[in-house]
Amino acid sequence: MSTPTPEQLQLDAQQQLRHLLTLENLPPQILHALLDRAQSCVRRPGEPVVMSDTLRGKTIANLFFEASTRTRVSFELAARRLGAEVVNLDLDLSSASKGETVLDTLETLAAMNIDAFVVRHRDDGIQAMLASRMAPHIAIINAGESHLNHPTQGLLDALTIRQHKPDFENLKVAIVGDIRHSRVARSAIHALRILGTNDIRLIAPEEFQPHDLQDCTITDDMPKGIRDCDVIMMLRVQKERIASGGLPDMDAYVRKYRLDAAMLARARNDAIVMHPGPMNRGIEISNEVADGPQSVIRQQVNNGVAIRMAVIETLLGRNMK
Ligand code: NCD
Repeated sequence: MSTPTPEQLQLDAQQQLRHLLTLENLPPQILHALLDRAQSCVRRPGEPVVMSDTLRGKTIANLFFEASTRTRVSFELAARRLGAEVVNLDLDLSSASKGETVLDTLETLAAMNIDAFVVRHRDDGIQAMLASRMAPHIAIINAGESHLNHPTQGLLDALTIRQHKPDFENLKVAIVGDIRHSRVARSAIHALRILGTNDIRLIAPEEFQPHDLQDCTITDDMPKGIRDCDVIMMLRVQKERIASGGLPDMDAYVRKYRLDAAMLARARNDAIVMHPGPMNRGIEISNEVADGPQSVIRQQVNNGVAIRMAVIETLLGRNMK
């Protein structure tokens, strides 16, 4: 029997979501249901947050083998706002890097009645391996896998776009920067494809162009690439994933690929500007654009909590029916 793919592993026999490993080929009805559920959990800063006890008695463990601020905090807030308990483990990569060690850590914690593990790891395939080995009542949520998948980020990006530009089939989306090493770009593309977006332009110097995303338009010409775009997603240079000597000349990079007001003027005048964070202000994006009227960067962070509530509730609520 061949090994199941992450796409297969994350669905049960009824085609319901039981883990969240990837957005690649996610059934559209599951994607729409997650976005709709998340939208109902959105509360803007200053409004009272949703508080429920739907997941009382459930425990979620955050296992981050790579640095994270917003993703980890938003998973924690999401779980608490649904009434679940949360444990946070910031794991030192040097003491627990390979798959078997991670499995051992999870099995140890599972013995303490953990219901879901939120896992971020620099290696490929760790989350799928865990999903294939854990007891059936345990859910694995991928919170960042190598350069490959970051499904909750892809969902929050899709939700943010939908709040401004719901006509996905007619969108022109530009993703700019270090696409080769970006799991954010891959998960966003997976979501956009399902939602019907065909015009996706990947804009990067040769060193940052992906080899695995042939169905998108790829260019090194930013002024041309962002012309008439509705959505511009800027990415950080993933220095931690680039071998020494693999970086382009950063001064030239900033001159050609930074999104500043003059560059932004080439897109549609109602284009939205996105960034998953953390931002390197002055490198890929200027302050005036990051903080300007077209920026939805803080809204992405706000939506992140709602998306993680929807994901946790969908996965854990399943066992409570
Ligand atoms: C991203 C990540 O970790 O993949 N951050 C995030 O989750 N918001 C992007 C990045 O680190 O550049």
